[in-house]
Amino acid sequence: MSALTLVTYATRYGSTHEVAEAIAATLQKSDVVVEIQPMQEVRSLEGYHAVVMGAPIFIGKWHKEAHRFLARHQESLTQRPLALFALGPTSRDAQEMEGSRAQLDRDLEKYPWLKPATQAMFVGKYDPAALRFPDNLLAILPASPLHNMPARDERDWEAIRAWALSIADMMKETIA
Ligand SMILES: Cc1cc2nc3c(=O)[nH]c(=O)nc-3n(C[C@H](O)[C@H](O)[C@H](O)COP(=O)(O)O)c2cc1C
Repeated sequence: MSALTLVTYATRYGSTHEVAEAIAATLQKSDVVVEIQPMQEVRSLEGYHAVVMGAPIFIGKWHKEAHRFLARHQESLTQRPLALFALGPTSRDAQEMEGSRAQLDRDLEKYPWLKPATQAMFVGKYDPAALRFPDNLLAILPASPLHNMPARDERDWEAIRAWALSIADMMKETIA
């Protein structure tokens, strides 16, 4: 397949970048030609057949780079297949997953034009020792949901690869 797919990500602590790399690798194995770039480096979507974009949720909101990306590339994004993912829950608990999905859905309501062909929420990674200001303050506030939360990395690589495979199938259909 010669049409080029952009996999683009925003990240604060690196876990979304790793997920974006895994998605790009799976697409490549399925013969999708892929380029991977951080969102803030993408100047134009000209030349890309499709876009996969992903970013984490912080304090109930999708990463601000993701919002900037949507604003900057609105017109181009309506003209090509878009797959969208987010990282949020720090465990595989179903209720936590539901909560993160609701946060993302609420945040995306302000983009009525946004019609991703597919959307996924993945479990993220949490490491209190890596937090920078002001996140580190949030983690010590007794009222914060992060208070006393242990380091966790329950990212579900199987679910991530399965989603990437479904995108590869979709690309094959849109190119054929
Ligand atoms: C300060 C802080 C606040 C967070 N707030 C939320 C939240 O409101 N909802 C959610 O689903 N995940 C939340 N998370 C979890 C992150 O989305 C998760 O750790 C993600 O994997 C981070 O991605 P990154 O490593 O690419 O920056 C929060 C994490 C931190 C450190």
